[in-house]
Amino acid sequence: MRAALIASLVAVASAYRSWIGVDTRWATHPDRTAQWYDENAQGRLPELAQSMTTVVANKSSIVKLECMGCPFRVRKLHAEPEEWQEPPQDSSLLLNFTIDASTAALLLNGQPVAALAPMPLHIHAFQVNANFTEMHMRKAIDLQMMDKSWNLGTKYGKFELQYEHTVVATREPGKSWIQFDVTGILYPYAMHKHDPKGYYELQAGDQKLVQILLREKAEPHELSIEDVQLVDRKDRAKPYAMPCGRLAMAQTTFKPLEWDDYGKIGTWSRWFNLLWDKTGELFLENLIYLPVVIVVVPALVLLRWMTRRQQQQQVALPTENDAEAALVDSEHQDTTPEAEYVDREEKV
Ligand SMILES: *[C@@H]1O[C@H](CO)[C@@H](O)[C@H](O)[C@H]1NC(C)=O
Ligand SMILES: *[C@@H]1O[C@H](CO)[C@@H](O)[C@H](O)[C@H]1NC(C)=O
Ligand SMILES: *[C@@H]1O[C@H](CO)[C@@H](O)[C@H](O)[C@H]1NC(C)=O
Repeated sequence: MRAALIASLVAVASAYRSWIGVDTRWATHPDRTAQWYDENAQGRLPELAQSMTTVVANKSSIVKLECMGCPFRVRKLHAEPEEWQEPPQDSSLLLNFTIDASTAALLLNGQPVAALAPMPLHIHAFQVNANFTEMHMRKAIDLQMMDKSWNLGTKYGKFELQYEHTVVATREPGKSWIQFDVTGILYPYAMHKHDPKGYYELQAGDQKLVQILLREKAEPHELSIEDVQLVDRKDRAKPYAMPCGRLAMAQTTFKPLEWDDYGKIGTWSRWFNLLWDKTGELFLENLIYLPVVIVVVPALVLLRWMTRRQQQQQVALPTENDAEAALVDSEHQDTTPEAEYVDREEKV
């Protein structure tokens, strides 16, 4: 407890040191309201941030994705617990798509999305007011707000994303669309009471998704961003059908609440990991149970293996042709080693 307190004080102190002399008020203090501009600037409102900002041509772009109907987190300085705004003001999510030259990967808020890292891949994004200004966007970019190094607490709340990720091949070699569709945002742990479901789904008809045209070069391996678009879900780039009839695309959906530390809930592999972990704990805590473990674990492994086999058999029901092929195959095998052996014997 004391160690944790000291650690967090050290973290705060070092975070504080790195922000000394930097203007961070925009990120921590309330914005000027429309009324303020009315009274102090003859109603001339500041320019709003674009929905897409190129940071480095072909390498890095910030997308401000409107989060239709999303709940809005209200965070105040020296705050009491956070609140949800009622009704919520319009808001957007900040998505930083940047090519990392050293790994030739496209990162989204620091996480690889092309090539997509194995699941679970947790991606977080800041929520900003929909009337986030151009000046604030410039400052956020200059201070690298969407980088892992950002350690300043701000008035902007972060959400973990639930998403659908799609790679759509084009007929041009080396070019593909990466489509990133935010399908939901998770409520922060302490704020679940907003809705016991634990997340808000982005189901509005006019919710947009991001699609990025990526160009890949083989030698040396390099990626570049050719185009960034915000499109309606129904207008997304469509895959073409390959000669085998399948669509030239790959899709992954990720719902963080379906996963825990052990894997995807409801899958065998998670169950096995959990068991493995608990068995380890049990083993260390209480060697007396060793005999039980010795009997139970192999039984479970066997059970798992048998279930797998059963599933595989169910999936791969042989068609007539397959059955024929299998027969031909086994005949072939018959004529190989043993047959040769017989041949030689006859010759002797
Ligand atoms: C931005 O939007 C909020 C919420 O709708 C509003 O209260 C505020 O006045 C707006 N600010 C400006 C500068 O328009
Ligand atoms: C965007 O992500 C890249 C890679 O993670 C990072 O280097 C860069 O600072 C980020 N940009 C902003 C504006 O945070
Ligand atoms: C760089 O981006 C521009 C458009 O922003 C595009 O026309 C050009 O083809 C891109 N270059 C590469 C190498 O992707």
